[in-house]
Amino acid sequence: MTRNRGKLTRRTFLVGGGLAGCCVLGGGAAFGINLARTLTGNNKTSNVGDLTFGNLLQIPPLAESTVDDEGRTVWDLTLQTGETDIVPDGTTKTWGINGTFLAPTLRAKRGDVVAPLLHNTLPEETTIHWHGMHLPAVMDGGPHQTIPAGESWNPAWTVEQPASTLWYHPHPHGKTAEHVYRGIGGLFLVDNETTDGLHVPNEYGVDDIPLIVQDKRFTDSGQLSLEPASFIDSLSGLGAFGILGDTILVNGTYDPHFEVTRSLTRFRILNGSNARFYNFGFDDDRTFRIIATDNGFVPGEPVETNRVLLGPGERIEIVVEFNPGDDVILRSYEQDLSAHDVNERLIGAEDTFDILRLQAPESLQTSPPLEHPGGVNVIPDVPSDATERAFSLDGHESINGEKMDMNRIDEVVPASALEIWNVTSNGQPHTFHIHGATFHVLEVDGEEPPSVLRGPKDTVLISPDHGVKLAVQFAPYADPEFPYMYHCHILRHEDNGMMGQFVVVEPGTEDTVPRTLAMGHHH
Ligand code: C2O
Ligand code: CU
Ligand code: CU
Repeated sequence: MTRNRGKLTRRTFLVGGGLAGCCVLGGGAAFGINLARTLTGNNKTSNVGDLTFGNLLQIPPLAESTVDDEGRTVWDLTLQTGETDIVPDGTTKTWGINGTFLAPTLRAKRGDVVAPLLHNTLPEETTIHWHGMHLPAVMDGGPHQTIPAGESWNPAWTVEQPASTLWYHPHPHGKTAEHVYRGIGGLFLVDNETTDGLHVPNEYGVDDIPLIVQDKRFTDSGQLSLEPASFIDSLSGLGAFGILGDTILVNGTYDPHFEVTRSLTRFRILNGSNARFYNFGFDDDRTFRIIATDNGFVPGEPVETNRVLLGPGERIEIVVEFNPGDDVILRSYEQDLSAHDVNERLIGAEDTFDILRLQAPESLQTSPPLEHPGGVNVIPDVPSDATERAFSLDGHESINGEKMDMNRIDEVVPASALEIWNVTSNGQPHTFHIHGATFHVLEVDGEEPPSVLRGPKDTVLISPDHGVKLAVQFAPYADPEFPYMYHCHILRHEDNGMMGQFVVVEPGTEDTVPRTLAMGHHH
């Protein structure tokens, strides 16, 4: 096996160490770029051609549920530490749920009342957030709903939104990046009648395949490296996107392959990485159809394309057509994040990765033609007097000039409101996420967005110095005491404070809501 990870890191470190004394934050732009290139290694990171695809793709198991005497679906979920064989170099210390790494897939139908029961056996407190879910803020699992080490949490809510691929992950303030990186995170699939009677591939693990894509860096002994991506990234002035790995895992599988069995196979792709963006495509440039984005099916027809860019926290569902004997590689290509040169290096925009080899046997089963449920999730008509708010993502640690404060309410939103949020990004690429809401992208830089942004979303990629106009539909759950979050989903940025809080309240009570939460009001 010809893996070269590790080498780059060591050389980078040595060079960085040698230069550190002289010039770090000063210097003009050109000098800064050269410095960044030197310190991050002149070679782009790539594993293309290095993999053997020797490991069978693991499919996260569907969590088994029970029904309690109130008719609620209960999953028993234990957060734990453990050791996992991931890479050939050694057994890795990892975190997981009901297992040593990652988490089972939860699946529920619209209308179900769900009551996951979480036990935290990790050595420290954490939270579990239901990303993309519409639910009361006190059940949301953000930084205020901590589960201390050794304790349990039992939120409950009614699943009340269209079919979609959501996910769940830790959200403790300041430690989200580390907890996600260590391995806590899984999918939460919502089903509803949208697809009943339609031919949409939906047999989990058969023709409906989850792909949780995450980049990691391993030490020579196979441990997860928590070091910054490069020496320069440990400096506050430039970049600072956090962990950027050179090894890609899919559902926790290193060097994976999968044999498809149906001519139409659906892949639900989650970018569960801390910071890395992926520009997905196939090595034969075949086209595929995007049927859903973060919060559900794309209205109208599926979007046909051969590339799709996915930032941290975003999901995409694609249907790929295979012929008997096909042998293709899902790859991440270079991407145009329209970043400044330094940032493009630091965010890995020039990196390329083989992700997964897909083979189709001669005995491939023919699927019926895809029937897309295009009547759902239509782009809302926003009334001209809708409330507009503006958010500026500055640098890598604040929004509208302020860092996250657990005790400060930044915005007050009336329940069930449909609002316009204008979000701009200064200098760096970000992904902007809103809790407890679904939005549509109305405009990118004042223009109609590309067709892939037609679908319902909860997280959107914003290129540096660009802006998006979002039509945000908020959930109906009023509670002036517990806030929801909005933040950048590059987890280092979120932990740094690029996050704000909003409460959803009874319409008409906005002005009476306290904007400060009592200190220590956490549970
Ligand atoms: Cu996926 Cu606030 O998070
Ligand atoms: Cu979320
Ligand atoms: Cu960011």
